[in-house]
Amino acid sequence: MTLVTIDDTTAKTKFLKEAFTLKHALAGHPLFTLPRLVELAQSMPGDRIEYNSGKLAIGVKLEDVPRIDKPPAEVIRSIEVDNAWMVLKRVESHPAYRSVLETFVREANLAAGRSAGDFEDIQGFIFVSSAKATTPFHIDMEENILIQIHGDKFVRTFDNTDRALVSEEDMEIAPSKHRYIGYEDWFESRATLHTLKPGDALHMPYVIPHWVSTGSSYSISMAMTWKTPEVVRLNKIRTMNGTLRRFGLPQRPPGASPTLDAAKVAAHDALRAVLDPLRKSERMRNLLRGLIYGKQANYYLRTKPGEGA
Ligand SMILES: [Fe+2]
Repeated sequence: MTLVTIDDTTAKTKFLKEAFTLKHALAGHPLFTLPRLVELAQSMPGDRIEYNSGKLAIGVKLEDVPRIDKPPAEVIRSIEVDNAWMVLKRVESHPAYRSVLETFVREANLAAGRSAGDFEDIQGFIFVSSAKATTPFHIDMEENILIQIHGDKFVRTFDNTDRALVSEEDMEIAPSKHRYIGYEDWFESRATLHTLKPGDALHMPYVIPHWVSTGSSYSISMAMTWKTPEVVRLNKIRTMNGTLRRFGLPQRPPGASPTLDAAKVAAHDALRAVLDPLRKSERMRNLLRGLIYGKQANYYLRTKPGEGA
């Protein structure tokens, strides 16, 4: 079965550059029913699940995001009656989801004329949201095809190069930063609206600004993400910039100094070689995030780092 249907001309001109819609064949797949997602949530560590109220302003601040005081499985079970928003992160750690995800990403890239070396670090994020829920304005640090599985989703995308909407500092990477970015009413005049129904998908290139709302039924969708070698490089520089800013040392954006960029990539790789073996357990991930980026870095956890979640 082919999972991705993508218009040839559109793919070749817009892939990795602009948002465009395509079709997918996963809308009725058994991995995406609510009972299956309850099982998935119950099998995942707490720091891979984030959820809150779905009633959010488009430019909400972290401190104003209303929490939901229920375990994740309960949030999914009552998604039809509550107003909730949830993301299950890194579902590629489960073989069944990884298999579908890898096939999908490979098919999409090959259909767009890319080759096997053009995509790596394939990750999946499943979104379960109530009717009339909002995902505020933000950017994502990977290439993405968002597939709609249940309900309708309305995605507004914006010009990826417009630094009046998203500043260079907003593009830096640090776990202490909340994903949502400030939003002003006038941004709306620059939005392109994409309406997604089950079977529709939307390609959203690296760091394209967007905000999302759901229709009159609950929504299930999945972000099928990957990174090109260039995105991997940019993210290393942006992670170093975000980390150095946290220690009071703001940096120039990627591209401003190729020499500095190369030094940051090397420093990033050296640090990861030390830290990665330590990040195997949830407790250690939380502890390291807290040590390097401060308490704010674990903002989405239900319990304090070290208590387990
Ligand atoms: Fe997103």
